[in-house]
Amino acid sequence: MFPADFAWGASTAAYQIEGGWQADGKGPSIWDTFCHEKGRVFGDQDADVSCNSYELWEKDLECIQQLGLTHYRLSLSWARLLPDGTTRHVNQKGVQYYNRVLDDLLACNVSPMVTLYHFDMPQALQDQGGWKSPDIVALFDSYARFCFQTFGDRVKLWLTINEPGVCATHGYEDGLHAPGLKEPGRSAYLVGHSMLRAHARAWHSYSSLYKAEQGGAVSLAISSDWLEPLDPSDPADVAAAERDLAFKLGWFAWPLFVTGDYPDVMRAAIDRQSEKLGCGGASRLPRFSQDEAAVLGTADFFALNYYTSRKVRAGGGGGQTLCMKSDRDAQEVVDASWPICGVSWLAVVPHGLRKLLKYIKDTCDHPAIYVTENGFSQVGPLQTDDVQRCGFYEDTILEVGKAVEEDGVDVRGYFVWSLLDNFEWADGFSVRFGLFHVDFSDAQRRRTAYRSGLQYAKIIRRYRAAV
Ligand code: NOJ
Repeated sequence: MFPADFAWGASTAAYQIEGGWQADGKGPSIWDTFCHEKGRVFGDQDADVSCNSYELWEKDLECIQQLGLTHYRLSLSWARLLPDGTTRHVNQKGVQYYNRVLDDLLACNVSPMVTLYHFDMPQALQDQGGWKSPDIVALFDSYARFCFQTFGDRVKLWLTINEPGVCATHGYEDGLHAPGLKEPGRSAYLVGHSMLRAHARAWHSYSSLYKAEQGGAVSLAISSDWLEPLDPSDPADVAAAERDLAFKLGWFAWPLFVTGDYPDVMRAAIDRQSEKLGCGGASRLPRFSQDEAAVLGTADFFALNYYTSRKVRAGGGGGQTLCMKSDRDAQEVVDASWPICGVSWLAVVPHGLRKLLKYIKDTCDHPAIYVTENGFSQVGPLQTDDVQRCGFYEDTILEVGKAVEEDGVDVRGYFVWSLLDNFEWADGFSVRFGLFHVDFSDAQRRRTAYRSGLQYAKIIRRYRAAV
């Protein structure tokens, strides 16, 4: 069902697991700042220590080995490597830390997939405007080149930016994530645009300077739900679902894989809302200039973070306000037959992943796809005997297998979010996505496999034995 070289992985991100927020010369990131402000995060929690992977990396490696992973996805903390965000000052201790992680992984036959930016802008660069700064594309490119140069001999799978849509929307529109800005209407589109330009620039740098020697591949991780019309016989619902998917998947996938520009339905919806509110004129969605048109084709594979599905009906969003929700003009509902588990937004819909994979194959020119995140959270009383999650992984991986075998989708790997329970952004430690439970009250942050972690290890063994 899965090819012999299929990547079986788990994912993490620097701010969510590392701790050591000030250790050995690391600079602050926007998440350090955000969490230290009152009222931003559940219970005013922060990830100053979190899983303490900065000091306890060996323990993470033991978990990775216990699962039998072939791949491990981690992110680099920009501010740990370059404390003020620029290559003027390199923190050698940070370089040493990641060197050790990468060397240890390779020594254990585990291939790293490395994300350059997973929500944690150096504070020093945020002070200059962050993703809205006119200099950010060049600054990101030099950070990316520094990483390719320093770690690229060992890293063959790169992701420039994780979930740009989430960063842009929660960081700059509704303020739920760092830097916590509430600027509805325009900023999120500008930020998304900067991220695409920064990604494309870094991809071009890799292609021209490192690819021949290092032979790796570079992409950007897009998060999307599977979205389908509530009533497939109602053209308005069909259009709403298409629009919704354009805002989630197409916003980044179309420029990279399809047209080099944003989806027409997205631009039309934004312009319609501007018109309605009498603030038409220049589109709020930027346009790629001639030289930026080079964004098309700047992803060597499709990296998909998938968690859930929704049914979509027309209307409900297009009120008298200037914000992305109104622009989208689509209302998402959960099908009553889909169980909601863990966090409130997470309806468990394994077959939605298969449909989304097929949709990507059909619309994005049959790319190689890695599912770079998929998971199921646990809330409430702690249960390491999490039977329900065992079923979730079985069912989901079966759906991925059907996508490969029956739909001919070129899926190259599947990564569970997450290796460890960790800091779940605005939800703090109240939500647990780990394959391993972490005891945050224990100084050693004891890691214990959930039953579902052991189950994932069995699934990997079973499918690997079958090839
Ligand atoms: C996507 C993000 O990349 C990750 O950081 C987050 O923890 C998971 N989704 C779960 O919400």
